Amino acid sequence: MKQIHVGMLGCGTVGTGVARILLERADLIRARLGADLVLKRVADIDLTRDRGVRFGKGVLVDDASVVLEDPDIRIVVETIGGETVAKDLILRCLAAKKHVVTANKALLASQGNELFSEAMKYGVDLAFEASTGGCMPVIKTLREALVGNRIEEMIGILNGTCNYILTKITEDGSPFEKALADAQQKGYAEADPTLDVEGFDAAHKLAILTALAYGMQINLADIYVEGISRITPMDIEYAREFGYNIKLLAISKDRGDRIEARIHPTMIPFDNLLSSVRGPLNALTFTCDAAGDILIYGRGAGMMPTASAVVADIVDLARNLLHDSGGRVPMLSFQPEHIRNIPVLPMAEITTRYYFRIAAQDRPGVLSAVSGILGDYDISIKSVHQKGRKTNGSVPIVMITHWAKEADVQKALAEIASLDVVGDAPVLIRIEDDNEA
Ligand code: HSE
Repeated sequence: MKQIHVGMLGCGTVGTGVARILLERADLIRARLGADLVLKRVADIDLTRDRGVRFGKGVLVDDASVVLEDPDIRIVVETIGGETVAKDLILRCLAAKKHVVTANKALLASQGNELFSEAMKYGVDLAFEASTGGCMPVIKTLREALVGNRIEEMIGILNGTCNYILTKITEDGSPFEKALADAQQKGYAEADPTLDVEGFDAAHKLAILTALAYGMQINLADIYVEGISRITPMDIEYAREFGYNIKLLAISKDRGDRIEARIHPTMIPFDNLLSSVRGPLNALTFTCDAAGDILIYGRGAGMMPTASAVVADIVDLARNLLHDSGGRVPMLSFQPEHIRNIPVLPMAEITTRYYFRIAAQDRPGVLSAVSGILGDYDISIKSVHQKGRKTNGSVPIVMITHWAKEADVQKALAEIASLDVVGDAPVLIRIEDDNEA
């Protein structure tokens, strides 16, 4: 039986999951691959921790060079994370003509253009299914299953921490801080939750997906990012009165010569399938010109789901090695000469529908002052409710608009905020509703 030797850099949570699959399901993988995947060396600074994995003698080492310099190792898995040591080691692996598998979305989103170009220079593959959506096969779907489609849009829930917190606020009425503490206690949120709750983790994933979908360079810097830390139980309750749930959505749309790419809390109708994605689960909808809509749903994080995606990449690379067919599927989905620098549409230029909550005094003329300003900016109101409840001496006026331009909305809300009769800064939440023309 042929053997393909694999090395691993970093053996934390995901690395341990990968080792478990490779060691405990070796027979299953052999039956599918037609060769043995041999985990030859695993480098980690911690050699003593009990990972619950039985490595053979000499497999676990504390020096990455042992992996890099082993000529038998053709595939290296990077599960260190971070953007410094991991980048350096990946570059060294590529230069040593080893194929690399990584789950490192932050690194790929910020420095992927350089890394993919280095991989091409050395004629090796850099595989990254686990970087986006955990076990959900979103990269394979984009690159292979949808190869005959133009991707019109992708809308998804790509951060399980945020989805867990929003589910908790929706179902228990907990304030954000309490829902976050619960997520931390259950291990869904980090001690420093900023990367997740402020939307940056989802932006990393959207930057990767957007590049693959439209044949463009990875462009993290131009993605609009807004997190969920200002979402209140009150807004969730009002959203529900309008027939909406609130989700942190990653949204990417083909606008011809430009691309929309944004992360923000979004109201979606109850009958949108993404509305039913609860707790830490992820889901991504592709809208394509031939296939129509495809929804992929699953675990976007966690040891074994992420390891499942890493192992899928290892097996893909091993198949390429067995059949001498590396580079068969272009890493970024398009041939390098067809990857363009398509600009991301500035947020001010997007059009969508909006929910506003305005804290205003309950006296004659207030509603007409507010609606007058909206009218001045060509923003048409679809529905308005004035709630009886007083918050800080004001009553909430909540409204839903028809389609409006973001720049106009921002200017109108700034003007509304400056009215004497308006208290706290108005709340704005964008709406994605396919039921509305
Ligand atoms: N922290 C992420 C999440 C998983 O909560 O979905 C890794 O990207």
